[in-house]
Amino acid sequence: MSIQFYDRERELEMLNGVARSSRAELVIVYGRRRIGKTWLVKRFLELNPGVYLYVEGPSVKRFLSSASKRFGVEFRGLDDFLKHIFESSARERLVVVIDEYQRISRELSPKIQHYWDAYASSSRLKLVLLGSTVGMVERDVSYVGPLYGRATRVLKLTGFGYSSARLMLEGLSEREAVKVYSILGGTPYYLALYDKARDLRSNLYRLFLDLGAPLYDEVERLLTTELREPLRYIEVMEAISAGRRTLKEISDYVKLERTQLKKYMLTLERLGLISRELNAFVKTPPRYRINDFFFRFYTTFITRLKDYIELRQVDYVLEEIMGRLDSYVGLAFQDICLMELSKRLPGYMVASYWDREGNEVDVVAVKGRSALIFECKFGTLTRADAKLLKGKLRLVANKLRLSSAKPYLVTPDVDGELDGVEVLSLRRVVEEGLPP
Ligand SMILES: Nc1ncnc2c1ncn2[C@@H]1O[C@H](COP(=O)(O)OP(=O)(O)O)[C@@H](O)[C@H]1O
Ligand SMILES: [Mg+2]
Repeated sequence: MSIQFYDRERELEMLNGVARSSRAELVIVYGRRRIGKTWLVKRFLELNPGVYLYVEGPSVKRFLSSASKRFGVEFRGLDDFLKHIFESSARERLVVVIDEYQRISRELSPKIQHYWDAYASSSRLKLVLLGSTVGMVERDVSYVGPLYGRATRVLKLTGFGYSSARLMLEGLSEREAVKVYSILGGTPYYLALYDKARDLRSNLYRLFLDLGAPLYDEVERLLTTELREPLRYIEVMEAISAGRRTLKEISDYVKLERTQLKKYMLTLERLGLISRELNAFVKTPPRYRINDFFFRFYTTFITRLKDYIELRQVDYVLEEIMGRLDSYVGLAFQDICLMELSKRLPGYMVASYWDREGNEVDVVAVKGRSALIFECKFGTLTRADAKLLKGKLRLVANKLRLSSAKPYLVTPDVDGELDGVEVLSLRRVVEEGLPP
């Protein structure tokens, strides 16, 4: 099976620029486990010669011995190693990548800082450090901190957007691809685990429920390496998944004082797992969303049904998930549309509309005093949808004092017209962009 490489054009372009530059560069690439850091640099090294060093564990000695082998030079200490790479790149460019850097950042960072200050102006070394979020930003922040100030580029790697994920899922229908993305999110590793030859149900079984299923404990595992009290954070995400989206609602749900809760929310935000959505149109409290669909799915279904899974009542769990999947995917679809539409409406202010009276519109794009108004529907479209949208259009036009507004209904795969409302498919939006 040939394995393909997707997305990451901008990241590769940035790294290629680093490789071509004639001065010393210190690049930090960080992101969650499985997000594609190693693959990105492997690809980069196919295009640019360089040395790849993988830190197997916290032992500096071990790192030095594998570095010695790679360079064919005996390094007795980190000073030897750093001196060598900085000096041998005085005239010629040298790319050195250190993967899983966080494992020895405590020892290496202060030294890199020292050598960087002494050599950077006379060297063409391109030092690329890869690490998982925790080690790089949270726990060892005091060790990496000084490097941040010196880094010439800092790249945070995040998951794929829908348009890249659907390329990995090629062969599935648009509706299936939306479903799978709503469940697995943009992490390339999870998407690569999806078996397109089987149906969704058996994939859910194989990935989440079977004994030893690869994603069964994934969120707990990720959070345990990142945080001390993973359960608290899971509860917070469960609250958001259950539709409690303001700080007050979340605080009531998890029974934590708002001041205490804020601490957890901030950490989740810093890890990029949730984000705070300010109301772009009306004054309301901000609301929170879980950014990656994998975490949403997991805290909507898996953590809540853990007891049954542990008791091996797997058929029951599958029925539960399948029974509620359509409404889950319906909400996810709105968010996918919002993200994909925002990317394709330059010059517009694109956001969801919600107000205190409980009115909601999936996507509103405003430019000056005119707007495009989108309702996104995963299920079958009916006349009632068109009617409802026209009503919302009047409401929003009034509230935002618009001089003109055009309504659209967005579906996964149907284009056309319904009662005078243009119907757009997500497929068309992603493949061709918006009609003029
Ligand atoms: N750009 C990509 N295109 C296709 N698959 C990818 C890509 N990046 C990562 N993957 C898949 O995800 C898996 C995990 O990626 P990896 O780079 O090892 O993650 P990390 O180093 O961040 O933990 C890879 O083995 C591969 O299957
Ligand atoms: Mg890796």
